[in-house]
Amino acid sequence: MPRDNKTPLIQKIAQQARLTFRGLRAPPGEDKVLADRLAQLISLVTAVRAADLKVAPRENKPSSGAAGLQDPPELQSPPVTYMHICETEVFSMGVFLLRSGASIPLHDHPGMNGMLKVLYGKVSVRCFDKLEDGLSSAPPRFHPPLAPLETSSVWRAALRSVTQYSETSGPCLLSPVRDNLHQIDALDGPAAFLDILAPPYNPEDGRDCHYYKVLRPAEGRTKEQQREEEEEEEAEAEAWLLEVPQPEDFWCGGEPYPGPAVSV
Ligand SMILES: [Fe+2]
Repeated sequence: MPRDNKTPLIQKIAQQARLTFRGLRAPPGEDKVLADRLAQLISLVTAVRAADLKVAPRENKPSSGAAGLQDPPELQSPPVTYMHICETEVFSMGVFLLRSGASIPLHDHPGMNGMLKVLYGKVSVRCFDKLEDGLSSAPPRFHPPLAPLETSSVWRAALRSVTQYSETSGPCLLSPVRDNLHQIDALDGPAAFLDILAPPYNPEDGRDCHYYKVLRPAEGRTKEQQREEEEEEEAEAEAWLLEVPQPEDFWCGGEPYPGPAVSV
């Protein structure tokens, strides 16, 4: 098969994403085809680098002065910036830039698949899933205690994994039922990642983004035990998540995507 060296890698990724995720509604008999398409998409995404998209780490602005942390939020540069690449009914694709020390707080992707590939820097991704039985078991007491109305927004969940990714790592994957909630923290400086979501967020179709806070049970645990549990963060550990408004210290700015044009 002749090699296609002229088509930009990001265009190939877009075409393969459309083919792969459009096929998700295919009958079960076609699973092998879907698996092959997904494997091909993962292979393309694994190869993508910051230079392919013309993005590069930037100097952080100073923490005081004209654009410093003393300023009200609207005058500060955003902790996270999104560069939109493309969106169809099947998938959306863009680049997130995280300033040094920035986090994307714990959030969900209801009914969606996703793929996150680091372009530069290093990130830690903590993945959770809400558990099927939701609130069927009574939530423990928490510290600090919950307000009465808050208990209706508490979800029993499992911490699936805490993993670090850099530009040489493969993509971090999520599906409607596995690793669907995540928090992303930039480690050791600024970071950027390519993000593919399929289907895209669409509040009118039940796919809005919700934010969560991890609750720590207070009952029967000393402060020492609680600290050890937070440090260990064992995979598959039970967790309790409280749905919260978008945290005030997190907001996302927008910038034009500087890389090769993509048409889908
Ligand atoms: Fe996400």
